[in-house]
Order: sequence, then C-alpha cells, then structure tokens
Amino acid sequence: MTSQAPGRIASAADRTVCRVAVMGWGSYAPARVLTNRDLERMVATTHEWIVERTGMRERRVAAEHEATSDLATLAAQRALQTANVAPAEVDMILVATITPDYPFPNTACLVQSRLGCSRAFCFGLEAACSGFLYGMEIARAAVATGGVRTALVIGAEKMTSILDWQDRTTCVLFGDGAGAVVLQPAPAGRRGIISTVLGSDGSLADLLMMPAGGSRHPATAATVAARQHFLKMRGREVFRHAVQHMCEAAREALSKAGVKIQDVRWIIPHQANLRIISAISERLGCPMDRFVVNVERYGNTSAASIGLALDEAVRDGRIRDGDVVLMVAFGAGFTWGATVLEWGAK
Ligand code: UT7
Repeated sequence: MTSQAPGRIASAADRTVCRVAVMGWGSYAPARVLTNRDLERMVATTHEWIVERTGMRERRVAAEHEATSDLATLAAQRALQTANVAPAEVDMILVATITPDYPFPNTACLVQSRLGCSRAFCFGLEAACSGFLYGMEIARAAVATGGVRTALVIGAEKMTSILDWQDRTTCVLFGDGAGAVVLQPAPAGRRGIISTVLGSDGSLADLLMMPAGGSRHPATAATVAARQHFLKMRGREVFRHAVQHMCEAAREALSKAGVKIQDVRWIIPHQANLRIISAISERLGCPMDRFVVNVERYGNTSAASIGLALDEAVRDGRIRDGDVVLMVAFGAGFTWGATVLEWGAK
C-alpha cells in the first residue's frame, strides 16, 4: 500500500494490488416484531401458508421515525467497533439500498454525517437484494488497487416502507434491517476475499419492481391512487430465476477461486425464501446444515440480508477463523452475484 492524503484516489503510478479482507462486521434489526399471526389480521393469509411456502415466521419492522440511514448507522457503528477503526479512518462509505431515505442526497452521505466519517467519500448503490455483494466487490477493488484503505459497505433497507399492505402476495415476505462490513488490506498471510462473480439481466426488470416514483412515472395523485409506489413481484417467475442464477453464480465463483464445494464451510445465501435455499442446497450438493439461514426470523431484508446473516453467524461462533465462506445473492434488475472468501481478520 502507498500512503496518501485522505480521500485521494491513488494515481495509476501509485497503484499496487493487495488482498482484501473483512476486518469488521455488524448488523442491526429494529425491535418491533411482526409475526405471521399479526399478518393474518391484516390480509387474507395464514401462518401455515407463509411457513410452508417461505419458511418465514416473523420479520422486523422499523419504527415510523426510523429511516434506512438510522438502521445503516447502527449496523455501521458495530462494524467499526469490531474492526477497531475510528470514524476518521474511513475513506469510503457505500450504502446499498432500494429504500433510501430520499431520492437524493444518497443515504451514505447521511450515514457519514451521523458517524462522523468526515474524510470519507460516500455514495449509494442500487442492485436490490444483490446490493451487498455488489458493494463488497466495488469496495474490494478500491482497496485492492490502493485508492482506498478503509471501506465501509452497508446493506440497509426499510422494506416495510414500500410494501402494499393490501397485497398478500408480497407484504408477508419482507422485513427491515441492516448489515455492514469494514474492508481493509488483508493481514499478512490471509487470503481474505478470493473471488467474486456478478451478473445482471435487465430484460426481466418487469418481474420485480416499483412502477412509479422515478422519472418514467413521477409521483402524481393518479400513481398514488393506482398503488404504483409499492413493490410489485411476479413471485413464481422470480423464484425460478433466483435458483438458476444463484446456483450458476456460486459454481462460477468457486471455480474462479479454485475451491471445491466440499471445502466450503458456510454458505450465506440471500434470505428470500427457505425453499429457494433448499433448492440451491440440493443442486449444489451441499447439505442444509452448512447454510446460514435466518429467514424464519427476519424475512427478506433485501440488501441487508447477507450482512445480517454474516454478522449473526460470526457472533454466535459458527463462522471461525480459516473457514471458507460462500455468499450468494439474487435480486431485482435482475442482478445476482457470489463471493468466496476465507474468514480471518487477525
Ligand atoms: O429477494 C428478491 C428475490 N425474491 C424472491 O426470490 C422471491 C421469489 N418467489 C417466492 O419466494 C415465491 O414465489 C412466493 C413466496 C412469492 C410465492 O410462493 P409460490 O409457491 O410461488 O406461490 P404462488 O405465487 O404460485 O401462489 C400460490 C397460491 C396462489 O393462489 P391460487 O392462484 O393458486 O389460488 C396465491 O394467490 O397462493 C396464493 N397466495 C397466498 N395465499 C395465502 C399468495 N400469497 C399468499 C399469502 N397467503 N400470503
């Protein structure tokens, strides 16, 4: 690494490539729990249907006064603490979300101000449920080439703010939360992030989207009346693509890393549906007891889900030093991605 002024991107001549590791991790989930039984009182659904079709039992709901940047800030504070990094050391903050506080300015700037990371440059990323892995790869590349020493990547969502509470096919599926990691050059002898594969297919954008509120259909009384400011999903089609692309991305990332599936200790999949996770387990030939699963407690938290699951699995001692971890995601766009890393921050 070359030393450089805060926030300055290294010139081509300065650049060296180094290995990058997750040096800090943290998450936050709002206190309020919404159970399937609660949802039975809101839409025509049953606890049994939701459990059988999704594996979900409850999800968290942010308070009215809590916005995405509030959830992101709390997760980030925890990640900085585990990394033992002071706010002033952070060079870059990236927030992946589809539920920003505002259309602009970006949520990362709001988080920066709350954390006091005064020298960081900050921006947002919209890749839906794949946002955390997209963000990690952008941050990894920035750290690897020496432009950035300390990057904070946060996936945070207040999904409940874009749900149509009259649509039983979507409102039972999502929840709120945030997950964060600190990336820095890996300690000597550590492999850190080994490989990443990312992909997209915009031809299928219509299957999972929010129709209004952007430049194509700005907010009007008519768009509000037509309930166009809510998430819309054709679940069955999305399910099929999710399984296919998550399996392909996982295989590709493993092959790029030169790692066999048998050598992966933990798989952290995006938590969209327990049936999707089981299908991936079957197709990859990797037993379910090697998957980190918390979909039953949080539902689908979109860009937050992998960071939230990672933090839980490290804190409760499942993920240990030296473990090979595979993370895999799929989301609106469509977007997908997979990352292979060797755990170890010391
Ligand atoms: O995070 C980004 C990626 N997102 C995903 O990966 C989500 C992918 N999709 C899914 O997880 C599943 O497709 C769902 C959980 C959304 C739906 O499960 P499904 O087994 O594909 O159900 P379906 O959409 O085929 O619906 C089956 C039936 C329908 O009734 P009919 O038409 O058969 O009479 C639905 O109307 O279940 C009905 N249904 C419900 N019933 C009770 C749909 N939602 C509900 C509900 N409660 N909440």
